[in-house]
Amino acid sequence: MNVDLLLGLQWGDEGKGKIVDVLTPQYDIIARFQGGPNAGHTLEFEGIKHVLHTIPSGIFREGVLNLIGNGVVIDPVIFKGELAKLAPFNIDFKSRLLISKKAHLILPTHRILDAASEASKGKDKIGSTLKGIGPTYMDKTGRNGLRVGDIFSPNFRAKYDALVEKHKDMLKRYPEFEYNLDELEQPWLQAIEELKELKAVDSEQYLNDAMKAGKKVLAEGAQGTMLDIDFGTYPFVTSSNTVTAGTCTGLGVAPTKIGSVIGIFKAYCTRVGSGPFPTELENEVGEKIRKEGSEFGATTGRPRRCGWIDIPALKYAIMINGVTELSMMKADILSCFDKISVCTHYIIDGERYDYFPYDVNDVEITPVYEEVQGWNCDLTGLTSYEESPAELKAYVQYLEQKLEVPITVVSVGPDRTQTLNNKVLA
Ligand code: GDP
Ligand code: IMO
Ligand code: MG
Repeated sequence: MNVDLLLGLQWGDEGKGKIVDVLTPQYDIIARFQGGPNAGHTLEFEGIKHVLHTIPSGIFREGVLNLIGNGVVIDPVIFKGELAKLAPFNIDFKSRLLISKKAHLILPTHRILDAASEASKGKDKIGSTLKGIGPTYMDKTGRNGLRVGDIFSPNFRAKYDALVEKHKDMLKRYPEFEYNLDELEQPWLQAIEELKELKAVDSEQYLNDAMKAGKKVLAEGAQGTMLDIDFGTYPFVTSSNTVTAGTCTGLGVAPTKIGSVIGIFKAYCTRVGSGPFPTELENEVGEKIRKEGSEFGATTGRPRRCGWIDIPALKYAIMINGVTELSMMKADILSCFDKISVCTHYIIDGERYDYFPYDVNDVEITPVYEEVQGWNCDLTGLTSYEESPAELKAYVQYLEQKLEVPITVVSVGPDRTQTLNNKVLA
């Protein structure tokens, strides 16, 4: 089994970037398989914080190849900005970064369509990051999309113009929505020229050849299971498969090649954008988590909605993904609470639910909580799991018992070094 994967079990922003960076030295290739610049993956080391949107989170480690798979959608302008931000770190992108020729391109008109569609929905809006994700995946499945491989074709401009014309027609549905395409188009076309400088490949072939030669791959998820297009809180989701199965379609990797599935979750829960969130705390406790946890979006800066950990949703995500081990993030943020609540099940229409049901948008969900003892002390300086307070260990064991999967990593701060291996269980 050559491919392990790491993916989010909640509504995104679980800390995927940090753990991918921590695990990278164990792998030869880090590969993103879905999503696009709606993602914001944060890494911290040597006093510097980096936020990546399209580039895989293994990019800072020498000798490791980073691959953007066919399931990813790329905005050349945002991508160019990411490369520019990394310029001071002297990374040789030509040798360390590969892009699938089959990855789809986000056009300026996709972004405009995203914004126009969201504006027209009023209070029912998805809360999209407005990066053009939905319209780009619509063109992909509608068989109209432009792919990275197309940029090398002499017909590229004609294909682009034809798609833009189609989009302009679609925009007529939103007569009140004003937009300025000219101002976005030139930078986009310029960024396409720069994209041509990077290495575009048939990445599924590349990956499978590499695996045959014994290389180890870590697939990096974006967003989270509860934002998956099929299994998330539809329609308040993103437009790709964020789950394990997305690795197969987003990289061209067979299910039989997948080894460990690392599910990552916060010691509490957050969501950014609209949609159901059973354990949301719209009170001073939620406010405290937001403040302590600096819960503001890495891509949009929006305040994240905060609440207690949700076992039914986590169990559902573990089931869908076939999770084999867990990483628990941001344990340090709960240090300020004497007692920590855990949602063990829901009550809907007077009935008990231990799982995440279909209809969560229009029903009233009452989360039922159990209280556990907090640890009430600073965890950020811990260097081993064994040293950690008994209450934290009890919280970890309590969750393991409920989730039936071992928690092998406990994170106690944003830095690379603030990562504890739960060796007892690993
Ligand atoms: P991603 O999208 O899953 O990669 O997560 P984000 O980067 O959007 O959000 C996670 C945030 O939490 C980032 O600001 C990280 O630096 C930070 N972070 C990750 N792990 C920890 C941790 O254990 N403790 C604290 N305090 N911050 C963390
Ligand atoms: P990472 O990879 C958190 C949310 C948006 C919105 C919904 C649809 O950093 O965890 P989209 O732009 O995809 O049309 O938005 O999904 N969303 C995220 N929330 N983390 C993300 O990525 C997200 N990517 C999209 O807020 O509710
Ligand atoms: Mg994020």
